[in-house]
Amino acid sequence: MSGPQPQSLLDQLQGRLRDALGESCSSESVLFTTSFSKEDQVLTWAIAESGLDVELVSLDTGCLFPATLETWSRTEAHFGLTIRRLTPVSSEVEAFEAGGGMQAIYLSDGERKRCCGMRKLAPLREACAGKSWWITGLRGGHSANRSAMDMVEDAPEWGLRKFHPLLDWDDDMIEAAAVATGVPVNPLHALGYPSIGCAPCTRPVLPGEAVRAGRWWWEASSRECGLHRG
Ligand code: ADX
Ligand code: SF4
Repeated sequence: MSGPQPQSLLDQLQGRLRDALGESCSSESVLFTTSFSKEDQVLTWAIAESGLDVELVSLDTGCLFPATLETWSRTEAHFGLTIRRLTPVSSEVEAFEAGGGMQAIYLSDGERKRCCGMRKLAPLREACAGKSWWITGLRGGHSANRSAMDMVEDAPEWGLRKFHPLLDWDDDMIEAAAVATGVPVNPLHALGYPSIGCAPCTRPVLPGEAVRAGRWWWEASSRECGLHRG
């Protein structure tokens, strides 16, 4: 049996970007957030290749895995571009750490949300100001709530529209596109991490576990941090 045809996948992805964003696209109006996952790397390739003027950003929460930071550097070198680093306000981080510290995120739902709020949501909110579009690497196969999303969705809470061009791609399609484009890949994917977030909140998954089982694994919640609807 033959697998997904890489060239037709890449053509489809380019077509989706062009159709949604068109020629009016500018870095003033379109944002792409990357966490350097395999799907985000394929999107970075597609954006770079398309010539569309999109602002690339990543949330450096201060808690990313060293392997993710190393993938960030390799990505910039590979594509010859700079990815804007969004960081939390240092006085808020200091206040958090002077309080319960990072241990608090395992003990209190509220403190976990406070941590995500200051390290992820607040910096991203600033980056969204004035933007019309936010491109993400969200995948429907990653959770039930994500499988119910539309590829283009209004996100009034962010003041823009979100666009998830890879929402309906499965793992084989992502893998085929990653191999065909030769994008740098976070080595953690091969070590049992299908979904990679901050180090304190991500563990590897066991065979048969859900893709996002290793994210905020101690919580019974929908395993979302507020970037995307839970
Ligand atoms: S999360 O909300 O649970 O962390 P996930 O890891 O599934 O999200 O990634 C989905 C999309 O959210 C990514 O494709 C990316 O667009 C965005 N995203 C998640 N984490 C980051 C990050 N640290 N920096 C930038 N974008 C991110
Ligand atoms: Fe803090 Fe964990 Fe949220 Fe990262 S994912 S911002 S470490 S609570």
